[in-house]
Amino acid sequence: MAALFPEWTNTAIRLAMLGMFLVVVGIPTALIIYVRTPYVTGQFFPVDQPVEFDHRHHVQDDGIECRYCHFDAERSAVAGIPPTEVCMGCHGQIWNNSPVLEPVRRSHFSDRPIPWNRVHDLPDFVYFDHSIHVNKGVGCVTCHGRVDQMVRVYQVAPLTMGWCLDCHRSPERHLRPKELVAVMNFRQADSRAREALAQRYGVRRLTHCTACHR
Ligand code: HEC
Ligand code: HEC
Ligand code: HEC
Ligand code: HEC
Ligand code: HEC
Repeated sequence: MAALFPEWTNTAIRLAMLGMFLVVVGIPTALIIYVRTPYVTGQFFPVDQPVEFDHRHHVQDDGIECRYCHFDAERSAVAGIPPTEVCMGCHGQIWNNSPVLEPVRRSHFSDRPIPWNRVHDLPDFVYFDHSIHVNKGVGCVTCHGRVDQMVRVYQVAPLTMGWCLDCHRSPERHLRPKELVAVMNFRQADSRAREALAQRYGVRRLTHCTACHR
């Protein structure tokens, strides 16, 4: 008896199955990889600003501590961008004729804030709080990288949920004495010293959903 289906249909079925496989597995895989690329997470793209403010000069050359400008970091949820008055505290006297500082003077005399562009921006349904991290000994550099070496600030961490949870599952790996949170080149202590810090600061492992989604 002749075969019910001719020989070529085998190949056709195999090709069709391969096609289905690619659709069912390939597309989600491609999407999963795609959402983790820096392009989507917004990593490593220096953001332009209305004033050519350079962290390297202020932090490295002039030795100004992070919290001198981002003074809300240890007492509130947001670290905040310094108000123009902080700039004028120095630039009322130094470089006070410099054209690059014109937008700063304009803001000062018109009483309108400088329209800084955001570099980091979590979605609104996520709750984040600087003060608890800073007061339990997580350094700025752990989440923001070497800002003191950046011409224009860019986002270093992916800021995905997986990134947050990776630390929250065992935060003791990232702790340092809290007086040193702003030190950029801090060398990690050994694991016993870090365990001791976790004890001293009473660091919890916050992985329940409502910690970050309230
Ligand atoms: C002299 C004041 C000053 C000092 C000191 C300073 N910053 Fe900033 N920082 C600013 C200003 C102004 C901006 C906004 C413009 C920009 O992004 O460059 C900013 C932006 C940032 C941002 C990006 C904010 C966003 O929009 O997401 C981070 C992160 C940051 N600073 C971290 C640090 C760290 C860490 C230190 C210490 C190593 C530091 N800064 C020291 C003034 C300062
Ligand atoms: C504690 C003093 C101090 C504060 C506060 C300060 N600056 Fe400066 N800034 C300096 C000094 C000193 C220089 C000199 C340039 C250098 O060190 O290379 C400078 C240089 C600059 C320059 C030009 C040179 C450059 O490339 O950085 C700009 C623009 C500037 N500052 C913007 C700002 C803004 C905006 C703020 C507020 C967010 C600010 N500064 C706050 C001390 C300060
Ligand atoms: C545990 C990680 C973590 C640590 C530690 C941390 N930050 Fe942030 N920072 C973030 C995240 C996440 C955002 C974005 C917040 C948002 O979009 O609501 C942010 C935003 C900022 C901003 C933008 C303004 C704002 O408050 O949203 C500045 C400035 C900043 N951080 C400075 C600092 C400084 C200075 C330190 C150290 C004293 C520090 N950060 C420590 C994670 C961290
Ligand atoms: C490098 C480590 C690290 C990273 C990264 C990190 N956290 Fe945390 N987080 C901590 C530590 C340590 C605590 C303090 C735990 C405690 O209270 O004992 C904390 C506490 C918190 C709290 C406080 C909850 C409360 O009870 O007030 C929130 C909210 C939070 N983190 C959100 C986030 C979010 C959102 C991200 C990611 C964008 C993030 N964290 C990334 C280490 C980290
Ligand atoms: C340590 C902080 C943290 C905890 C704990 C946490 N999340 Fe998230 N979650 C985030 C952040 C940050 C984002 C936004 C970034 C992203 O989408 O990856 C997010 C995004 C989400 C989203 C949006 C989906 C998406 O990918 O855009 C959902 C849904 C979600 N979380 C559910 C949960 C559930 C369910 C839990 C408990 C099992 C949980 N989260 C625990 C930080 C947290």
